[in-house]
Amino acid sequence: MTPVLPRVNEALGNGLTLRTPAGLDDVERVAALASTVFGPEVGPMMQTLLMRHPSMTWADQLFVENAAGEVVSALCLIPWTWRYGRAEIAVGEMGVVATAVDYRRRGLVRRQVDFFKARLAERGCVLSIIQGIPFYYRQFGYDYALPLEGGWRLELRQAPAAPEAGYSLRRATLDDLPALQALYARAVRGLTIYAVRTPEIWHYLLEPYTTPVADSRQTWVVCAADGAIAGYTRLPEFHFGTELVVDEASLVSASAGVALLAHLRRQAEGAGQPFIRLNLPGSNDLVQLARAFGAASEGTYSWQIFVPDLAALLRAIAPALEDRLADSLYAGLTRDLRINFYRDGLALRFAQGRVQEVTAPAEPGQADLSLPAWAFVPLVLGHRTLDELRFAYPDTSWRGEARLLIETLFPRGEAFLYTVY
Ligand SMILES: CC(C)(COP(=O)(O)OP(=O)(O)OC[C@H]1O[C@@H](n2cnc3c(N)ncnc32)[C@H](O)[C@@H]1OP(=O)(O)O)[C@@H](O)C(=O)NCCC(=O)NCCS
Repeated sequence: MTPVLPRVNEALGNGLTLRTPAGLDDVERVAALASTVFGPEVGPMMQTLLMRHPSMTWADQLFVENAAGEVVSALCLIPWTWRYGRAEIAVGEMGVVATAVDYRRRGLVRRQVDFFKARLAERGCVLSIIQGIPFYYRQFGYDYALPLEGGWRLELRQAPAAPEAGYSLRRATLDDLPALQALYARAVRGLTIYAVRTPEIWHYLLEPYTTPVADSRQTWVVCAADGAIAGYTRLPEFHFGTELVVDEASLVSASAGVALLAHLRRQAEGAGQPFIRLNLPGSNDLVQLARAFGAASEGTYSWQIFVPDLAALLRAIAPALEDRLADSLYAGLTRDLRINFYRDGLALRFAQGRVQEVTAPAEPGQADLSLPAWAFVPLVLGHRTLDELRFAYPDTSWRGEARLLIETLFPRGEAFLYTVY
């Protein structure tokens, strides 16, 4: 059954009801569950998301309550917009998934995921992501693609000790927004996939807070001697380890970067933090600089990703695929690319270099590319190459020259998702 949204109110049996919030009282009760399951900083984060985030509505929050009115399980959809080349795509993150201890392993998350997927469709999301615990979400169609958490480790003794002359750091304010937007554009310029930051999202990120919540970050700007902004960084207030974590950084010069590293060293030393971890993509300017000082890669964990409809995803990214063709040996291409997922498949029909349609292939046996459907997602996202996929899944194969066309359409790229909350 397709649930009636945005307001959900469905009896699940045993006195349990699946709902979306109808009032502030419901929001507070959902937040209370989040704090009980994850820690006191997570409930206030939930409340802030539901009350203030520019893209989130109460219809994005599901919860289960018992006959006594206690919230016993919950999960939410946090909306993102991603750039994939020239294309913009709607993405829904499954967030703050929690069930009270006495109600676990009764299928309450499974039931909410059905409604979550209906909400994804209603929002036009072509992708869903989760940062979640290992393995669990595979049962709901999620698999690993795109880097998440990890990065580069810089020992404090490796970082410059003395501040670069002429630079100072201060907390960012909303007046810095134009400079921050320009620096963010600089941080994402080499990335093949990144999050769109509207001014409204920037406002949400920069809102002053007195009590830090789970997603709070300190935003610092690096100022040159004349006061001009020469860089910025964002540091999470909460994370799993004891080190100082940098979640975001952008710079206009190496000297601004040296000033920032010296500041981070002082801040970490002052707080007794053992090292600095740059949770940033390898191409980031601060990573490049930190590597010159000896920073070493720690590798990354990974986002888990679910694609409700592969054809819909390909249609959504068609402008980017057309750009890649136009800039290649396949400019002006007219042909079908037939992809076989064994149970079903897709044909990408190109006419004069444009994506004309994405359909079921006429004859799956005559495929240009054969692979399990879940292996196609990391290929489309530029996270894995054909060779890596064939190494992991021997049932990946392609026909002759189709390999070059596939690599032209889906090259390996560097994706990184600076947060939107
Ligand atoms: C993980 C958690 C959300 C699962 O909630 P739940 O309501 O017990 O989940 P469900 O019962 O709907 O799970 C669906 C299935 O997965 C199984 N399952 C539950 N927890 C599991 C786990 N940690 N690992 C593997 N399988 C698990 C269930 O038995 C059920 O299997 P079935 O369909 O074969 O009966 C809950 O244990 C929890 O709140 N844990 C602490 C917070 C946390 O880690 N949240 C996730 C953050 S991403």
